[in-house]
Amino acid sequence: MEDWAVRAEGLEKRYGEKRALDGFDLAVRPGTVHGLLGPNGAGKTTAVRVLATLRRFDGGRAEVAGVDVARDPRRVRALIGLTGQYAAVDEILTGRQNLEMFGRLFHLGGRRARSRAAELLERFGLSEAADTGVEGYSGGMRRRLDLAASMILAPRVLFLDEPTTGLDPRGRGEVWDAVRALVAAGTTVLLTTQYLEEADKLAARVTVIDRGRAIADDTPEALKNRVGGDRIEVVAADAADLPRVAKTVARVCLGEPHLDDTGRRVHAPVADRVTALTEVARTLQDEGVPVEDIGLRRPSLDDVFLRLTGQGVAA
Ligand SMILES: Nc1ncnc2c1ncn2[C@@H]1O[C@H](COP(=O)(O)OP(=O)(O)O)[C@@H](O)[C@H]1O
Ligand SMILES: [Mg+2]
Repeated sequence: MEDWAVRAEGLEKRYGEKRALDGFDLAVRPGTVHGLLGPNGAGKTTAVRVLATLRRFDGGRAEVAGVDVARDPRRVRALIGLTGQYAAVDEILTGRQNLEMFGRLFHLGGRRARSRAAELLERFGLSEAADTGVEGYSGGMRRRLDLAASMILAPRVLFLDEPTTGLDPRGRGEVWDAVRALVAAGTTVLLTTQYLEEADKLAARVTVIDRGRAIADDTPEALKNRVGGDRIEVVAADAADLPRVAKTVARVCLGEPHLDDTGRRVHAPVADRVTALTEVARTLQDEGVPVEDIGLRRPSLDDVFLRLTGQGVAA
């Protein structure tokens, strides 16, 4: 039998009448990033809190690194790290002081705390800013410092609950690099996200969660293949042109074009990518409709979610 870094079978967690986890299954391979992908309210944080022993659960089974979560929560706690959506670092202190303080909280002793702090500052690309106050850090730097803090004890399994929510694209990229570095150093990461692109970029495998249940578990690539086919995507320069763009796309695509909530983007599945692209580009040019961007793309996990649940992620 395979040894799993995290394993859950039929997990149940109720808050009164609300079933936050409703027979949730999960299996995370050691040494990988596993994505837990789902919209707001799907049960991601509840799953993480239960697995990290911060909440009791009402039914089912869970193990972390082979240790039973219900029977042996203390041993589980010694094996894991947890980072929440919001950084827990102290604004007044410098990055280095923060990490040394965490080290002492974990009884490392002064010298070990100092060397561990220096090591982590280096690993997370914070050496240069190590001795500046955290109040001057960017969002991405804070999140990386938070990651570093959760790594003080080099946990076997790290739970990251929406580590990039609220960050700009640059900060997000910085956190992604940090997560990759963690996994390269041997940590298993369970990462929750609402960002499809994030799961696709980071995770070897993705569990899609909806209403407290896993509704899919696969590689990002295989999930995308389930939806199948290429899509054409057109971004109108002017929102007022959207109906005309949609009409043009409708002529070449399979099914109905989808309009994005940005108000300027239309996308739709196509059978023959080159013909579709050429046709749409020419028609829009002939009609004098200005286009900001036009291209072909592989299906995203967003499309997968639409396919699996019949609802968009924002629903
Ligand atoms: N402490 C709580 N009391 C009551 N309901 C809760 C509590 N925590 C979460 N819930 C509910 O459980 C469901 C799952 O929430 P959560 O795990 O936070 O989802 P996610 O992290 O995916 O956004 C939601 O419907 C939420 O409202
Ligand atoms: Mg959450």
